Amino acid sequence: MATDVHRPVTTPAVNAPTGSAPFAVRVDGLTRSFDGRAVIDRLHLDVKPGEFVALLGRSGCGKSTLLRILAGLDRDIEGTVLVPRRKAVAFQSPRLMPWKRVWRNVLLGLPGKPRRDVAEQALTEVGLKHRTDAWPKTLSGGEAQRASLARALVREPDLLLLDEPFGALDALTRIKAQRLVDELWQRRGCAVLLVTHDVEEAVLLADRVLVMDEGVIAYEREIDLDRPRGIADPRFAEIRAELLRRLGVEQPDATQNPSHNVS
Ligand SMILES: Nc1ncnc2c1ncn2[C@@H]1O[C@H](COP(=O)(O)OP(=O)(O)O)[C@@H](O)[C@H]1O
Ligand SMILES: [Mg+2]
Repeated sequence: MATDVHRPVTTPAVNAPTGSAPFAVRVDGLTRSFDGRAVIDRLHLDVKPGEFVALLGRSGCGKSTLLRILAGLDRDIEGTVLVPRRKAVAFQSPRLMPWKRVWRNVLLGLPGKPRRDVAEQALTEVGLKHRTDAWPKTLSGGEAQRASLARALVREPDLLLLDEPFGALDALTRIKAQRLVDELWQRRGCAVLLVTHDVEEAVLLADRVLVMDEGVIAYEREIDLDRPRGIADPRFAEIRAELLRRLGVEQPDATQNPSHNVS
């Protein structure tokens, strides 16, 4: 049965009176089934305005399914899902149209007549202004992912949904992209839900880390470390170890051979 209860809510706009919107995302009793199997099973989740939340979980546990529902791309659900009207999503694959120049890709799907200066401003914000007129196939992986982020930013989202956006990047480019997302989040003040398989990335960036399992949020942890965070901090290592444990990743000797990723 298709139950469409996905509807917009007012969110924390910068000039909204304090306390007017206690959450950016509210999910209650959410169930999504495929072929009679509940991948998401009466899940509950609240995200505060401006909060950065990272979502971990083994491959196939339903992270992307949840993200797609929050993005409004999947409405075949039961339960309550309240999200801001202004939201944007970026996926692991940048999904650029090869026949459109970068700036036109950034504006893709926006209502009204495309305005180049709007695209340029977002491209400047992600450090890609010099590639405004480039064709997507000439971009590096990191540049394409920046273009994808610019496309999310022009929507001026109150909620930014990121599905393993750095997953395909090499290590160095990945670190730069993580820093960029951190900066953008601090500047924009939007809520972020980042799906990642990288525990370290989650602890570096997020206010709160969730572990999804068996269709629900099985564990959550506030990350109360000062920013900028460093992996050398012993508390960082302690949180990382706890998250890995919750993910079912055995660490015979975490100090000698830390295993950061799950897949
Ligand atoms: N459109 C679909 N049709 C059938 N099964 C699906 C569909 N989308 C996702 N699934 C199944 O739901 C489960 C969760 O998938 P997904 O949300 O992509 O996991 P994750 O992102 O955590 O790796 C998987 O078993 C997947 O095969
Ligand atoms: Mg996924």
